[in-house]
Amino acid sequence: MLPIVDKPLIQYAVEEAVEAGITELVFVTSSTKRALEDHFDKSYELEAELEKKGKVDALKLVRNIVPRGVSCVYVRQPEALGLGHAVLCARPAIGNNPFAVILPDDLIDGNGSGVVSQMVQAYEATGSSQLGVEEIPEEDTDKYGIVNTRGDIVGNSSRVERIVEKPRPEQASSNLAVVGRYILTPRIFDLLETTVKGVGGEIQLTDAISALLQHEDVFAHRFVGKRYDCGNKLGYLKATVDYGLKHSEIGDEFHEFLASLNH
Ligand code: G1P
Repeated sequence: MLPIVDKPLIQYAVEEAVEAGITELVFVTSSTKRALEDHFDKSYELEAELEKKGKVDALKLVRNIVPRGVSCVYVRQPEALGLGHAVLCARPAIGNNPFAVILPDDLIDGNGSGVVSQMVQAYEATGSSQLGVEEIPEEDTDKYGIVNTRGDIVGNSSRVERIVEKPRPEQASSNLAVVGRYILTPRIFDLLETTVKGVGGEIQLTDAISALLQHEDVFAHRFVGKRYDCGNKLGYLKATVDYGLKHSEIGDEFHEFLASLNH
């Protein structure tokens, strides 16, 4: 729920999904994340108040938090057993359909074309799972799922040969990292059911994807966009500054303010 300028990170994730044509959203939450459901709920009192005061712009904003035709399902992850487990918790809501996974801490500015939308196109072109990847500094491999790919490229996607969760830099065989965007085929659920605890004692999505490679092609998709890791302080600040500068209402004044800091 951390805001970047004027919206919580989760709202950016929802907007990215909706832009890609996704109409069913599944939120995997926990007992400490109740604010999330409240944020996406309809607030009759607030809407009535804004209407009464003629605050048309604010009213439009509040009504568009969940756009018309989009439905939300909330699933609780009872224990923090890892990303793989979180995805498995969503199985009953997703069923036998391909689906996207968005980790909202990774905020990606696709500059007009959201990353999920780019990856849905790649999924449609290949019929295979897609992992959003980018090159990261070699010393950071132990923070990410790291992939090796084979040369043949379809659009911006190339086939994954191997995927390893958080290898130490001296053990990593590439610096191509998965960064918080996945389009997965439903076969992943059966594999997650039998995935044992991995790195950090957690059920890792990466390990299930590694198992998926035995059955299906999986592609690494080099998306177009700038990523901010809002899970760390510096990344969060960079996102706030860049999004502040681009903001239609306050961008110019914020720019002047930043410029004034140099004097
Ligand atoms: C998770 C995944 C990792 C992926 C990363 C992207 O790690 O396990 O494979 O590269 O997200 O942000 P976490 O950041 O939850 O430790």
